[in-house]
Amino acid sequence: TTTVTVNPATLGFTAVAKNKLDVVTVPAGYTVQVINRLGDPIASGVAAYKNDGTDTNFAQRIGDHGDALYWYGLSSAGARDDNSSTRGLLVQNHENINQQYLHTAGATSSAGVRPESEALKEIECHGVSVTDASVNATGVWSVNQASSLNRRITPSTPMVFNGPAKGSDLLKTVFSPTGVAGRGTINNCANGTTPWGTALTCEENWAGYFRRSGDTAARTAKEVTALARYGVTSSTGSYGWSTVVASDSANTLFRRWDARATAGAAATTDFRNEPNQFGWVVEIDPYSPTSTPRKRTALGRMGHEGCWPGLFVVGKKPAWYMGDDSRREYLYKFVSNTAWVAADATATDRLAIGDKYMDAGTLYVAKFAADGTGTWLPLVFGQNGITASAANYAFADQADVLVNARLAADTVGATPMDRPEWTAVNPANGQVYLTLTNNNAAGRPLAGTDAANPRHYNDPNGTAQTANYGNPNGHIIRLRETGDTTEATTFTWDIYLFGAGADLDAANINISGLTGDQDFSSPDGLWFSRTTNAAGLVKPVLWVQTDDGAYTDVTNCMMLAAQPGSVADGGARTITNTGTGGATATQATRVGAAPTAATLKRFLVGPVECEITGVDTTPDGRTLFVGIQHPGEGGTPAAPSSHWPDSQATGTAGATVRPRSAVAVITKTDGGVIAL
Ligand code: FEO
Ligand code: CA
Ligand code: CA
Ligand code: CA
Repeated sequence: TTTVTVNPATLGFTAVAKNKLDVVTVPAGYTVQVINRLGDPIASGVAAYKNDGTDTNFAQRIGDHGDALYWYGLSSAGARDDNSSTRGLLVQNHENINQQYLHTAGATSSAGVRPESEALKEIECHGVSVTDASVNATGVWSVNQASSLNRRITPSTPMVFNGPAKGSDLLKTVFSPTGVAGRGTINNCANGTTPWGTALTCEENWAGYFRRSGDTAARTAKEVTALARYGVTSSTGSYGWSTVVASDSANTLFRRWDARATAGAAATTDFRNEPNQFGWVVEIDPYSPTSTPRKRTALGRMGHEGCWPGLFVVGKKPAWYMGDDSRREYLYKFVSNTAWVAADATATDRLAIGDKYMDAGTLYVAKFAADGTGTWLPLVFGQNGITASAANYAFADQADVLVNARLAADTVGATPMDRPEWTAVNPANGQVYLTLTNNNAAGRPLAGTDAANPRHYNDPNGTAQTANYGNPNGHIIRLRETGDTTEATTFTWDIYLFGAGADLDAANINISGLTGDQDFSSPDGLWFSRTTNAAGLVKPVLWVQTDDGAYTDVTNCMMLAAQPGSVADGGARTITNTGTGGATATQATRVGAAPTAATLKRFLVGPVECEITGVDTTPDGRTLFVGIQHPGEGGTPAAPSSHWPDSQATGTAGATVRPRSAVAVITKTDGGVIAL
């Protein structure tokens, strides 16, 4: 990893106040630029974005809902250069859409037949973008619209399957009767990376896009159980794409979103298995725009939030840490079968290196014990009850275990968590951080807390201040692997930080003692900077981004900078939870040392109705990229609720200017390292 040395490496900015302005607010002495707005053209000859609902051709424009992003450096000649801070490829996920702003007067109803032109735009706004970004001599950032390295990957881009599930009956469809290929990626949320220069994109809430209900009689009982476990139950699919009567002769780009099985028909004649083609980690070589992305089935199928690598140590098997973001889902780790060889970092056939490390290994799921220890439980066919027994889901083979990883994790008794979002790994010590964004009263009832998910309380929300019980503000848990190695099968843990308003009960809710300069809710994005200090990797900055449901009555979503300590720098603690009617229950937990004013500060607040998600810097630490996702998501084309990024300069814009997801590029006016 490239690092930048700063001494002293302490947070050196003045905290930003919570606010509901329609701008990206940054500390004094910092500047905001904007690139990669929804619709920006990224191929020669594509017209400028009009942003009035008439634009088309999103397969050659920036997609919507920019999420995780990462910088892949380029030399001035356009070759891979991990040390470059002036030109690079920004790889960004496009998770979802603000559907209403993509069409002139809003979208047609999903209840009827969707027009092909509308559905095509919506589909193409999903996926991944790769853009060739650079800074000029006066510090202005831009994307080269004509660069041959620009790429859009959409839900229609050809992909292949790798790893143990490749060729499984569960992946066979009319499109790929042999189960080795698929098309595209969707609902790409958080991300991951590799030392050999590839990007990992993760398929999160893919289940809702499929129409499926009503085909139970045509399915096996196991299929019905598995589809329900993953939420493939909709009667229309999120945007009704399967209703399109398409002009393509096979009618597959739209028809594929209808996953209903046909009674008596073979699985290779319909799209019943199409949902099994999603929920994977996908490896992309950003430096090779014609390469075919590979779905890495060894890492399991779930609502993948992110896939962050642990430290790579020569001679040790590397690991990636993965959250499955739904209520009461789990934390996973994939450990490669292959020990790390440093020379592989600079190999030129990057996806072949991915094959070497990511196609064979062990998928584990985490079980947290009350005493601050934990266990990684292997999800391996034939072990720990993961067998062909009809009493336990009747697993057929390891491919079945990976396709239905949630069922396997249920079988071994993993710990259900408060919505596992991003993972991050501290480059100083390899400790793993996981955001647990929030949970509701059904998912985390008063009588159903545990040491790793210890809170149940009420944070009222909204103008009516409606009751909001459960763990509405979320927390950040962290793990230290036994022996500090990615190969470990046990760990210790504590809770690094509890989200809460500063005004909430300090003993039982605002347990981290957050002040008004630090308080937040619903942590989601999470990333450790490359920054070090003169003594070595001592204090990298941890960036925490929020996707808040419970705090937007007070402030727009935000990003904080932190310098955390270490697992077990706190200790055992017992809190008292309070549910409806004043009922109480005690819960023991493990709590890290509280942050101080010097070790946690709010760095940024986003515009109206956005989520802050996606963060990276250039390797020199002097340019920060932050994803501003779905500003104004609650508005209408006639009355947008945000006008960002047009509103960035003044806080206002024309009343009907539509908002656009985009990347905020933040620099320090004096050219210094961000946050320090
Ligand atoms: Fe797409 Fe779990 O956030
Ligand atoms: Ca609130
Ligand atoms: Ca997220
Ligand atoms: Ca989220």
